Amino acid sequence: MAIPQSVVVPPTRAAVFLVGTIAEGGERTVRDLLQNLAGVIRTVAFRAPGDGLVCVAGVGSEAWGRLFPGGPRPRELHPFKELDGPAGHRAPATPGDLLFHIRAQRMDLCFELARQVTDHLGDAVTVVDEVHGFKYFDERDLLGFVDGSENPTGPTADAAVYIGDEDPLFQGGSYVIVQKYLHDLAAWTALPTPEQEKAIGRHKFSNVEFPDDVKAPNAHIAVNTVVENGVQRQIVRENMPFGAVGSGEFGTYFIGYARTPAVTERMLDKMFLGDPPGNTDRILDFSTAVTGCLFFVPSVDFLNAVTVGGSDAGSLGVGSLKDT
Ligand code: HEM
Repeated sequence: MAIPQSVVVPPTRAAVFLVGTIAEGGERTVRDLLQNLAGVIRTVAFRAPGDGLVCVAGVGSEAWGRLFPGGPRPRELHPFKELDGPAGHRAPATPGDLLFHIRAQRMDLCFELARQVTDHLGDAVTVVDEVHGFKYFDERDLLGFVDGSENPTGPTADAAVYIGDEDPLFQGGSYVIVQKYLHDLAAWTALPTPEQEKAIGRHKFSNVEFPDDVKAPNAHIAVNTVVENGVQRQIVRENMPFGAVGSGEFGTYFIGYARTPAVTERMLDKMFLGDPPGNTDRILDFSTAVTGCLFFVPSVDFLNAVTVGGSDAGSLGVGSLKDT
């Protein structure tokens, strides 16, 4: 199996999410950074061993064709599918050619790496969305609930996120979907705690899950349980709260990795459209998605093998790709 990027790591206290678009003619610079990314990460991470600095890079569907023209494509790479739910819940698709998901126990490390990455990219990439996330009291989101407990860990997580034999050229890769959500915190906090707990499907203080026969069908965790052929399909999430008190912005940056985007897309369908139709996620009555992007996360081996090439024709040292 190819060496994957550091997708599955223990939760960190801080994160920076950078989404960028590639300028016309910027492809060579981007390939150069992708090929050198491991070294750029080491430059910062080595100075603070033990603080868990990692960075995952993802490439959007259209950008893939520009960066690696004529080369093979990850089988399931496509643009984010916009959703328009019957209850007025929208999941918009927004621009995004590149994602950098930077995590560490300390924000200064995330910030420094984000700075070095953007320095390398220069005018080749415009950052269209930048979110600095933090962990809030005992792993809670800004709705006040512990977020992440049902994430798979260890080999189960690896099996959920890393591509295997189903796409041999892209083994060790993954797909990631991100969405930036803004919460109507005034409306949420006006909701009595038992109602909030009903919306999530877990007790707020203890984090204990409601029994299935008590859980409301539109509770967030009921909606997001996807079972196919008797097997629960899982994703790995590393959501982060973010906000700005002065402007009253309170949000959750959703990020979900999976070896096929179909699982996360199924969850989004259930949340926004409802299954059965109309059974939409109660959390959406208080949370609005303002961004939505899908990226492919190549393996480290794949990134190392990228050939920088000329100004408009990249190549890969993997598979049967042309080398320009
Ligand atoms: C407003 C944004 C969101 C917030 C605040 C949020 C919060 C939470 C919380 C508090 C939990 C319960 C604890 C846990 O297991 O993590 C949870 C579970 C979960 N969420 Fe979200 N979430 C958000 C968006 C999403 C989205 C967009 C998806 C999928 C596309 C998703 C998928 C899941 C899954 C799969 C679980 C675990 C369900 C289970 O097996 O119990 N979440 N989320």
